[in-house]
Amino acid sequence: MTYDEKLRKQAYDAIENHQGMVKKDLYYPTYHIAPPVGLLNDPNGWIQWKGTYHLFFQWMPFHSGHGAKFWGHFSSEDLVNWTLEPIALTPSQWFDKSGCYSGSAVSVDEKLKLFYTGNVKNELGQRETYQCTAESVDGITFTKTGVKIDLPEGYTPHFRDPKVWAYKGRWYMVVGAQTDNEVGAVAFFESNDLDSWTHRGILTKADQDPLNNLGYMWECPDLLELNGQNVLLFSPQGLQADGIDFNNQYQSGYVVGKLDYEKAELSHGGFIELDRGFEFYAPQTTLDDYGRRILVAWMGVPDQNESAQPTIANGWVHQMTLPRELTLVDGKIYQTPLNEMEQLRACESIEQSVSKELATSISRGSEIQIEGEISTIELFNYTTLSYDKNTELLTMERPSYVDGSLETRSCRLPQGLYHLRIFVDHSSLEIFVNYGEEVFTSRIFADVFEDSIRVQGRVNVQAWDLKNDTIQ
Ligand code: FRU
Repeated sequence: MTYDEKLRKQAYDAIENHQGMVKKDLYYPTYHIAPPVGLLNDPNGWIQWKGTYHLFFQWMPFHSGHGAKFWGHFSSEDLVNWTLEPIALTPSQWFDKSGCYSGSAVSVDEKLKLFYTGNVKNELGQRETYQCTAESVDGITFTKTGVKIDLPEGYTPHFRDPKVWAYKGRWYMVVGAQTDNEVGAVAFFESNDLDSWTHRGILTKADQDPLNNLGYMWECPDLLELNGQNVLLFSPQGLQADGIDFNNQYQSGYVVGKLDYEKAELSHGGFIELDRGFEFYAPQTTLDDYGRRILVAWMGVPDQNESAQPTIANGWVHQMTLPRELTLVDGKIYQTPLNEMEQLRACESIEQSVSKELATSISRGSEIQIEGEISTIELFNYTTLSYDKNTELLTMERPSYVDGSLETRSCRLPQGLYHLRIFVDHSSLEIFVNYGEEVFTSRIFADVFEDSIRVQGRVNVQAWDLKNDTIQ
């Protein structure tokens, strides 16, 4: 048995041995992607290939912590029903033995090609990093094709997460990086054939932001086009909390500007946080066959007390967000649930018009829409969302899963609060505010049998139970 086969067998055994306990956990999501066992983090290799959507994920099958990551794999024909596929990559080679770290996918010559970071901790405990490829002709079985890029000069080995795309007949790549003087940065590469790559330099770095110094390391960059402009998404580490901004351990956000491919320069505005909730990190986007720019993110944050999450006792931790469509309006990204999400509905809508207050119950797998003059929503005797007209702040409050103390996240809504679309899964909330102007993405560990909801305001409320058999 090769080492790769051995790792695969151990991972499948881990699923076999623990999936009963994992799936029985009443916090386990019923329509979001979560690990079959162990820990899931970043979305990887997100692509629609030959019509089918493929979503890979950072996966530690052997325990609910980090370590030598595998690439797990889900596929979907419709973005609603997902199938767990065989393991795509194992950390089996000298160049990826401490983890097949995050990366992306492209379609070329009938093949699905993956780019990922080979993470190595050598005998001296030092980190080595290699940008590697693997490819598949059927979208299921992947063959590693080795190291394509060694660490260029000017960076520390915190150099990872290649995102590749095509533009006017050439290939380009951004890599998350830390410069020699420990500033977060994005490295830029170019290639004619996806095999040999030229390092064109640093596209932008932490001390180039007009408003802030953006930290010591940038992870998971993604360079995309929205509405004729370039957007650089990335996850900087080392930002100081600043009022209502940057309150999580690490953030994810974007800058908007123009990429000059000839000069390898990105001119851009200030950094904007992408999500206002407690758990959101490492988003990755893809352009699908309908021309939609679709984002998926990890519903977690590195180094943010994950060992205190109660699901660890049941052998798993973390989940993905739903896929969301991005649009750019006046220099700001709006995120909205895909139209396909309506197929999750398992019933006709239940509607109520409320003049002051509604107290009722909802299923822990449901969608709620609230329209009108919304003042407060309380969910499951656990979390509240309230809008203050004077400060124009929408604030979410929940007890910390570390010590139960109340913690808050807020965003400013200058046009007021007039619409909420909330996706409730068994231990998560995705709250789309004003048709995608802001989103609060968070895990919630309310009592599993709690189903109460209270809404205050002059509003119309619609609710649906959602299907619970879409992920196999
Ligand atoms: C982001 C990240 C990436 C890395 C991966 C390892 O969460 O730290 O930079 O490739 O996770 O799992």
